[in-house]
Amino acid sequence: MELLDGKVASAAIKENLKSKTELLTASGKRAPHLAAILIGDDPASHTYVNSKVKNCHEVGIRSTLIQRDDSISEEALLQMIRGLNEDKEVDGILVQVPLPKHISENKVTLTIAPEKDVDGFHPVNIGNMVLGLPGFVSATPWGIILLLKHYGIKSEGKNVVIVGRSHTVGTPLSILFSRNTSFGNATVTLCHSRTHNLEEICRTADILVAAIGKAQFIKEDMVKEGAVVIDVGINRVKDSNTKSGFRLKGDVDFENVKGKCSYISPVPGGVGLMTIAALLTNTFDAYIRNNDVAL
Ligand code: GUN
Repeated sequence: MELLDGKVASAAIKENLKSKTELLTASGKRAPHLAAILIGDDPASHTYVNSKVKNCHEVGIRSTLIQRDDSISEEALLQMIRGLNEDKEVDGILVQVPLPKHISENKVTLTIAPEKDVDGFHPVNIGNMVLGLPGFVSATPWGIILLLKHYGIKSEGKNVVIVGRSHTVGTPLSILFSRNTSFGNATVTLCHSRTHNLEEICRTADILVAAIGKAQFIKEDMVKEGAVVIDVGINRVKDSNTKSGFRLKGDVDFENVKGKCSYISPVPGGVGLMTIAALLTNTFDAYIRNNDVAL
């Protein structure tokens, strides 16, 4: 079994971005700039956004973190986004979800200009992905593709089984794997809560992606010998032995499954780090496209 190490793969991507950003600034151009909006005090969201900001800094991408408490009105948030859409010094915008109940995530997504939507959530970007046109692919599916690329794992002709059909992971990933591209051309099965014979279908997977948000859901008897297993889950499980009072667990029962796999991604240290690397890549690409810069 070989580990799909997100630390190693994301470090390579970040190193490349850092040297490209240095080239830009050395030639007198401004650095790419991400604006991140964080509403409320959800601890997990704070951790994710702080990590995004820290990673921007590491590669020389400028970031602005805009924090508001959850009493902000929907209209005030939409106005803030419209302002960032118009700001020529901002290349990428992200609004961390989940949002407070009185704010419509759909309205927020539709308000972000598609050419600054580095999360790839806007319908224009989803449509571009389906048609194979330039746009932004959301960070987690794109990070998974980058992780497989880093390890030279091809999906062409293989059976890919994805468990979980979310808008942000399972659904876009099913499209990326099935398109006629260097990283696609797989036969894809997208499983969900109504799937019959889930365990049997998982056992047909050459590449199995777990993205359902249930800790240790994928057990040893659901995995084919030699399969590649990608764990997208980040579940907080209570653990009184840790300082924080919880431990992060993936959607895969790692300890029991790892012996059966050719490759497996750990949690933490796998897909999560790739998601950030993909976000940085999208922000850099937004800068290049929107400012007509040739590298
Ligand atoms: N919340 C959890 N994951 C994400 C993400 O990729 N983008 C945003 N904006 N919010 C998230």
